Amino acid sequence: MGKGFYISKTVGIVGIVLAAGALATITALPVVYSQEKSKNNEVKSTDPTMAPSNEPWDQWRLPQTLSPKIYNITLWPRLQPDPTGLYIFTGLSSLVFRCVEKTNLILIHSNKLNMTKHPTLIGLGGKPAPTIESIVMHTKTQYMAIHLKEELTAGESYELYTEFLGELSDDLGGFYRSEYYENGIKKVVATTQMQATDARKAFPCFDEPAMKAVFHITLNHDPATVALSNGVVIDEVNITVDDTLVTRTTFAPTEVMSTYLLAFIVSDFIFIEQNIENLQIRIFARQEAINAGQGEYALSVTGPILKFFEKYYNVPYPLPKSDQIALPDFNTGAMENWGLITYRETALLYDEEISSNENKERIITVISHELAHQWFGNLVTVRWWNDLWLNEGFATYVEYLGADEAEPDWNIKDLIVLNDVHKVFAIDALASSHPLSSKEEEIQRPEQITEMFDTISYSKGASVLRMLSTFLTEKVFTQGLQTYLDHFKFNNTVYTDLWEHLQKAVDSSGTTLPKTVQEIMDRWILQMGFPVVTINTATGQITQEHFLLDPETKPDSGLYQFHGQKKKQYNPYTGCYRKLVSLNITVIFTDTTGLTMMMKTGNAYLMFSRLQDSIPVINRAQIIDDAFNLAKAGIIEMTLALRTTLFLASETEYMPWESALDNLDYFYLMFDRTEVYGPMQTYIGNQVKNLFDYFTRLTNWEDVPPGHTDQYNQVNALRVACSTGLEACTTLVKTWFQQWMENPNVNPIKANLRSAVYCSAIAAGGEEEWNFAWEMFEKATVASEKDKLRAAMACATEPWLLNRYLKYTLDPEKIRKQDATSTIISIASNVVGQPLAWDFVRANWEYIFNEYGGKSYLFPNLISGVTNRFSTPFELEQVCDLPNNCYIYLTVILYSRNLYLNVS
Ligand SMILES: *[C@@H]1O[C@H](CO)[C@@H](O)[C@H](O)[C@H]1NC(C)=O
Ligand SMILES: *[C@@H]1O[C@H](CO)[C@@H](O)[C@H](O)[C@H]1NC(C)=O
Ligand SMILES: *[C@@H]1O[C@H](CO)[C@@H](O)[C@H](O)[C@H]1NC(C)=O
Ligand SMILES: *[C@@H]1O[C@H](CO)[C@@H](O)[C@H](O)[C@H]1NC(C)=O
Ligand SMILES: *[C@@H]1O[C@H](CO)[C@@H](O)[C@H](O)[C@H]1NC(C)=O
Ligand SMILES: [Zn+2]
Repeated sequence: MGKGFYISKTVGIVGIVLAAGALATITALPVVYSQEKSKNNEVKSTDPTMAPSNEPWDQWRLPQTLSPKIYNITLWPRLQPDPTGLYIFTGLSSLVFRCVEKTNLILIHSNKLNMTKHPTLIGLGGKPAPTIESIVMHTKTQYMAIHLKEELTAGESYELYTEFLGELSDDLGGFYRSEYYENGIKKVVATTQMQATDARKAFPCFDEPAMKAVFHITLNHDPATVALSNGVVIDEVNITVDDTLVTRTTFAPTEVMSTYLLAFIVSDFIFIEQNIENLQIRIFARQEAINAGQGEYALSVTGPILKFFEKYYNVPYPLPKSDQIALPDFNTGAMENWGLITYRETALLYDEEISSNENKERIITVISHELAHQWFGNLVTVRWWNDLWLNEGFATYVEYLGADEAEPDWNIKDLIVLNDVHKVFAIDALASSHPLSSKEEEIQRPEQITEMFDTISYSKGASVLRMLSTFLTEKVFTQGLQTYLDHFKFNNTVYTDLWEHLQKAVDSSGTTLPKTVQEIMDRWILQMGFPVVTINTATGQITQEHFLLDPETKPDSGLYQFHGQKKKQYNPYTGCYRKLVSLNITVIFTDTTGLTMMMKTGNAYLMFSRLQDSIPVINRAQIIDDAFNLAKAGIIEMTLALRTTLFLASETEYMPWESALDNLDYFYLMFDRTEVYGPMQTYIGNQVKNLFDYFTRLTNWEDVPPGHTDQYNQVNALRVACSTGLEACTTLVKTWFQQWMENPNVNPIKANLRSAVYCSAIAAGGEEEWNFAWEMFEKATVASEKDKLRAAMACATEPWLLNRYLKYTLDPEKIRKQDATSTIISIASNVVGQPLAWDFVRANWEYIFNEYGGKSYLFPNLISGVTNRFSTPFELEQVCDLPNNCYIYLTVILYSRNLYLNVS
């Protein structure tokens, strides 16, 4: 899957939700938890991890008695509601499986499907099949259990035939529907999102990644629509079924593959295409979007990236076609279905005039990520979800390599440092982090599987694989990778299989490592966290220890340990109050001359000042981030860290600025409601003034700076200058927005600057500006433009405007379900909106929990987002006063803070 959520870094301070912001309240939540736990002892008996019996249907994993070979599935989604207003699909499936071990039970996944006919079983080896005795649906474990009068014979093959009916609901999972308007007409798309465990919502199947099979897929659909699936179309006929004329589209059988990578889509979308050496590449989207050219960029980069990966993996692209499709409603960023990749519109569609370079980077990195999975993940698949980090960490690492191939001038490979390495440092430095690797038996239930899709899996996975590739050298790394892919194609692996192949590559390269690949990597994979290395410059002695942001969580209790012992005995009574709060912050921000004095006392950061120009940008960014992290951990003075920001006054490069702004965001979160706010604004305003003047001279705000990261820094200059009240900036922004309001058909604001300008203008404006933005939001036909306006409307400073906006998130006609939680989070990131959003979430708890509670991508982000500023015991108490069963969402909140607790 592509990265779960995309939060624009150019609007307000939302961008830190997933990073430093998590620190603010994290240490205090366990207190709440522990109080609640003592009140609530019955938690134990309702703990859903406890299997009530040893019966196979009460286990979360399938028995190893049967092995699927071929599925033959016909599905018919109805894009019009039935008389009761329900959207449905019907299906029939015949499944050929082999009996591996004799049994009188067929246990197969099936979730929310109604059987419309009694299933039948036939024997394929000449012998008759056993008679079906009874069929029992197990809703909790999501099985259909078919009990047989006699036993199936080991070594024999059988065919199970089922007919079923399911709801084509708007829940973004399994076989679901997406809706949009085109020329005033409502249109419905039937589409799928199977990963991780929702193929079982579309048809009965052995829904585990190692249960690979061949799929023959047929879709019935309205003749005015087009049907897509993993394979190419081999037959298309118009027939009458149940008195309805339909087109029956049959697809070529798939390669041997996992259920979670299947996709079926029916829509009236159109496409653009390109053929490269017999490989058909197509981009599908809404007609209006394709006609406006929004698919062109994606089409232009797909070929080069595919060619790059063929070389990198030394394996030809395994399929005859590569389809990519943009959907109006999509839960995550994108999904790597084999041969038919699905995307959120903002992750695939690009408009030259309207989209920013940030949108463009998002598109190319997500495409690259999903294409990388077509081999790593799809051709070779990890055996079980506990090794998800290998799949996602790998794709996250190589997405930069693929993107670099298509946009070689961007220096995009450097950006992994900000986007993944720094981001995960912040999370992995908490005592509540967890190791990359989990044991297979620890990951059982669908919710536990969903929890694997976190920043540790994606970003730490990417960081350690990048490190591994670097110290092995890319030549050795790719050689091991290539033999691994070749050896396991169409098969499944565990992560140590990759280490073995890398080791072979090391051995045959003639180089020697001090330890084996496995020994080196165990330290990064099996234990959580990362070390801080101290070099005594006088003696040359080097020591290392586990780096923790809160030193009081130091693990005498065995926190820093090898996996398997999940009991992280976090002491709930430590670290409730942030040390930072008691710092003499006012002094730090106002007395800059004092700071300069202190600087002269001689330390590494004095060097930094002199050497600024000769230290590579990537390291300048690193030094700033390290300094802030070391300061938060109490290893160096906070003043020292803040001093690294003094040099920003003469810095014009993006990476150091972005690193500093990310870290300063934390101060804004903690202090924008205190008297420190004024001096802080003055200080940062002074620091950014040079940068603003630099870009004024360079571009006069008319031209686009030449470099990719310069374009980002131009946005930073404008955003920070305006938010600190620099008059030259606010005047500029007001004028542009005014011009636009006067002539709504001509938007004079440069694409890259729009997020920052909209936010700033709406913050400074009132109802008129807000209503204008809403009108433009409703009219916009480019998804990324909609997203910019949607985020900017959260920048309003009138409470009633924000309250009205919050209400809109309850109405899917106004704000799509996929966007509701991120809109609430944007509002909460505004200092005025924060208490409103918090009240709103509490007041509408029931609805929000029912709609988004089950999809754990959305919900933890929401709770984490609306409580982001919480830092006082009073605020924390409110968390536990949430309605309903406190335990449930405390678990969610704690999860979102990456806190894992031993509840048994
Ligand atoms: C799949 O099933 C359909 C109807 O059940 C049948 O007509 C078709 O021949 C089957 N295809 C294969 C490849 O078995
Ligand atoms: C499936 O059957 C149940 C129980 O009869 C019913 O409540 C539900 O609406 C049915 N689902 C669909 C999609 O028809
Ligand atoms: C099916 O019918 C549609 C609409 O009448 C027509 O456009 C299409 O060409 C037909 N397809 C086949 C395979 O006959
Ligand atoms: C898959 O790999 C396993 C070893 O990991 C091997 O025993 C099995 O034969 C392989 N299956 C195929 C179809 O290659
Ligand atoms: C804050 O400043 C006061 C007076 O200068 C000093 O006594 C105190 O120790 C300082 N506190 C911290 C946490 O540095
Ligand atoms: Zn992925």
